[in-house]
Amino acid sequence: APTRLEAERAPAVCDGTIDADHTGHTGTGFCNGRNALGAAVTFTVDAPQAGSAAVTVRFANGTTTARPADVTVNGAAAASASFGPTGTWATWTTATFTVPLRQGGNTVRLSPTTAAGLANIDHLDADTGTTPPPSGP
Ligand code: GCU
Ligand code: CA
Repeated sequence: APTRLEAERAPAVCDGTIDADHTGHTGTGFCNGRNALGAAVTFTVDAPQAGSAAVTVRFANGTTTARPADVTVNGAAAASASFGPTGTWATWTTATFTVPLRQGGNTVRLSPTTAAGLANIDHLDADTGTTPPPSGP
């Protein structure tokens, strides 16, 4: 099963506010990024081994205009997100990207490419393909 990383919970970092005024989000809220170029949300994805992984971002965009963003992993460009309109701010949908991960911690950053900023970001599900082996003796 994928690992769910909530945008409102550390180690995620939201350049904006954590809000809960639109229903349907998971966890306790979502990241309402500042409406500004580069006002990003950053997730830390722990991968048991290096390889490509599917990451699924849940978002809402209650405007009529896409909120495009660059997806970078450990500082390198990995994908482009369009984050198109979802109808209302309480209507959530997902976008999935395949990204390269290294073993251990990876910084996955969604950085808006226009002054409108990001869509509201609920969570990121990371499917790293394998379950880490049990630790300990
Ligand atoms: C509204 C909405 C916010 C959203 C913002 C935006 O204020 O309530 O959740 O983030 O629009 O346009 O980014
Ligand atoms: Ca916003």
